[in-house]
Order: sequence, then structure tokens, then C-alpha cells
Amino acid sequence: MASRQITIASATEVLFDHRAATYDTDDFHPPLAQTLLSTASPTPGQSILDLATGTGLVAIAAAKTIGPTGHVTAIDISSKMLAVAKEKAAALGLTNIVFHKVDTKDMFTAFPRYSFDHVLCSAGMVFMDDLPTILSDCYNFLKIGGKITFDAPADGSSLIGSTSANVARQYGIELPYTRLGTAQKCTDATSGAGFEDIHVKTVRFKGTLLKREMLDQAWNRQLMHPLSKKLTDLEPRELKMLKGKFLERLEAVIPQEGAVDEIVMHIVSGVRLH
Ligand SMILES: C[S@@+](CC[C@H](N)C(=O)[O-])C[C@H]1O[C@@H](n2cnc3c(N)ncnc32)[C@H](O)[C@@H]1O
Repeated sequence: MASRQITIASATEVLFDHRAATYDTDDFHPPLAQTLLSTASPTPGQSILDLATGTGLVAIAAAKTIGPTGHVTAIDISSKMLAVAKEKAAALGLTNIVFHKVDTKDMFTAFPRYSFDHVLCSAGMVFMDDLPTILSDCYNFLKIGGKITFDAPADGSSLIGSTSANVARQYGIELPYTRLGTAQKCTDATSGAGFEDIHVKTVRFKGTLLKREMLDQAWNRQLMHPLSKKLTDLEPRELKMLKGKFLERLEAVIPQEGAVDEIVMHIVSGVRLH
């Protein structure tokens, strides 16, 4: 099990190191980060921890909002994503933000308890292998009255992600895409870590146009993704059957002219009251 965790983390690091230079140009993550931040609505003077900060989309916007009396600590596993974030923060002359290369699975010892007013995580929880432990660490880091705001893909979000998760389930493999797929699952996971006053809102984002002829390539990309790592445990014969089902299901729902691959996210918030 330990070796799988290391493999997922290092595969994630490689993926995002590779994507760092163009990450900010994608159509989905910047609007998601903006939505998460407006839900969180940080206030001047707050102390914020941004998990899986990437290129700092959330962290930098938060640092601007909380002003010089506040402080943002932003962590990520990818050096290249962090390098982009640091460069952007420096160009803006921000002095109230620091970036650290920390894997969230090791963060328990990285920060003292009762340190932060708000923990944020945009498009990051889906990568966390041991979600209950991560949420519980976040709870411990918060001051009394502190808040967490994070997001998670909803069931049915992204035709590619949800179809691969559904076909993998037939082979007894749970991919993490739909782990927090319903508002109830989000609430249960968040309250399981001790949070109260939990709110979940569901937001739809227009995805890219998906055409049937793109499906073969989409499957190959999906197979390379760190979140699909468990699929590579399958025998080649099983993997071939799984791919067949993936293509069959998507070809049945995607019309000839293509379909917009909508992404649906739950934005979750909770408060540490004790
Ligand atoms: C989709 S990006 C999201 C980045 C940013 N929060 C945003 O809203 O654009 C996911 C980020 O999670 C980071 N990540 C994944 N697993 C991680 C882990 N175990 N510890 C720290 N960062 C991690 C990746 O390196 C990547 O930068």
C-alpha cells in the first residue's frame, strides 16, 4: 500500500511538472478557483493555508484580498507548479505569501495546531489518497471558528472521468473521481473530520467539445493519469475489455457532432466550532 501511495504522488508530480507552463491557460481551473474563492470569501488579516496550490490561482487571489496584515501559506508537491506561482506572486510584489513544496500526506508535522483561519483547496482533494486523514489534519490546523473550503467532482461530472470510474467499478476498482460525488458524501466526509455548519453547493462548468473520434486518445490519456493508477494493475486482457466498454458507453451517448463535456463540482465548506 505504501508503495502505491508513493507511486501516485510521484506520478502526480510528474504530470503537473509537465503541465506547469501552460496550466493557467486551461478553461476550467481558473473559473473553478474563482468560484471557490468567492464562496470562501476570505477577509483582511486572515491566516490562510492553500493546499495543492498549483500555480497559486487561489493563493495569490486570496493574498490580495487579505492584504498585508494577513498571510497565505501555500503548498504543493510539484516544484514546477510552485515555480510558476512564486514568479507570479513576485511580479505582483506580494509579500504576504509563502510557497512550500510539501506533500499533503506529510503535512501533519509541517504546521502547528490552531494556526490558520481558513484552509482552502481547489481541484486538489481528488488527488488525496487518504482523504479522512487530510480533512482531519485540516481540522487540527484551524483555529476555533476557522473554516475549510474545498471542492470535489460530482457524480456524472466529465463524461471521461465518470465513465472510466463506472467501468472500473465493474472490475472492483474504485477510482477517486466520484468518491465525493454526492452532497451527502461531501457532508459525511467533512463532518467525519469534526467540521460543523457544513454547506455544499453544486456548480456547473462548461467543458470542452468531445467528439467520438477523440475517445481513443481520451482513454489513453486517462490511463496515464495518476488517478487511474489502479487500472494498470489489471491484466492486459481485462484492460482491453474495459477500454471496449468505455468506448461503447461513450459512443452511445455522444452524438456525431460531439457533446460538451460538462464538469460539475461540489463546493464544500465547514467550520471548526470546538
Ligand atoms: C488540478 S491542480 C489544482 C491547482 C490549484 N489549486 C488550482 O486551483 O488551480 C492539482 C494540484 O494538486 C497538487 N497535488 C496533488 N497531490 C498532491 C499532494 N499529495 N500534495 C501536495 N500537492 C498535491 C498537484 O501537484 C497540482 O498542482
